[in-house]
Amino acid sequence: MREQADLASEIQGNSVADIQKRQAAEAAMGEIRSGMRIGLGTGSTAKHFVDLLGARVAEGFECICVPTSEVTAAQARGLNIPLSDLDALDGLDLTVDGADEIDGQRNLIKGGGGALLREKIVADASARMVVIADGSKVVDQLGAFPLPIEVNMFGLGATRARVNAVIKAHGAEGGLELRQGADGQAFRTDGGHLIFDAFFGRISDAKALSAALLDVPGVVQHGLFIDMCDAAYIARADGVAKLGD
Ligand code: 5RP
Repeated sequence: MREQADLASEIQGNSVADIQKRQAAEAAMGEIRSGMRIGLGTGSTAKHFVDLLGARVAEGFECICVPTSEVTAAQARGLNIPLSDLDALDGLDLTVDGADEIDGQRNLIKGGGGALLREKIVADASARMVVIADGSKVVDQLGAFPLPIEVNMFGLGATRARVNAVIKAHGAEGGLELRQGADGQAFRTDGGHLIFDAFFGRISDAKALSAALLDVPGVVQHGLFIDMCDAAYIARADGVAKLGD
């Protein structure tokens, strides 16, 4: 039956990856409880979760949510999901977010959508972080996906030189690229910062790299999420697997 449904969805224009993103989001709905304070992630997978949560809210489900981006905030508002500022709440119970890569220890690369700073702040404030992803995001070793590094505008050249030295020292095979927006201008995050994407290939020591990047004054944050993800729902053709507890 599932295969037929997949075929029907594909005919309607949904890719297999998108179907799996939806399935992962559906699985994560089992994590929500009435009255929870929930962090809402950003990206095409998190968007499915927000849609599903919106449907539950329309049925009377009670929760209060903190979005990790302006895009997610707009989606949630459109679905009448109650929103709050992070600082108005005494922490969060749960955050559900996507990822660009996830390894066997549930360490992540995030920030492909440019929301890494708010995503990390929200996840850090949450008692539990759950990742939802299709199977293509699972890797043996982080680093094939370019690592997003959010930087301040001021002193961009100096920051670029420092970051370049750090990534070279940590085995980057490629260089750094300043992320461009769809308009051809430098991409700006919700916080008004810029993003360098760093091309590693493989990241051999994510913790050491994290510390070295955060030691560069112009670096605001990076997309390595180490020891933050409690569980992940990974959807593949044969079903959804849960990693972690
Ligand atoms: C945004 C993110 C996203 O969670 C990540 O890029 C995955 O996106 P998608 O679900 O669209 O594949 O970190 O900053």
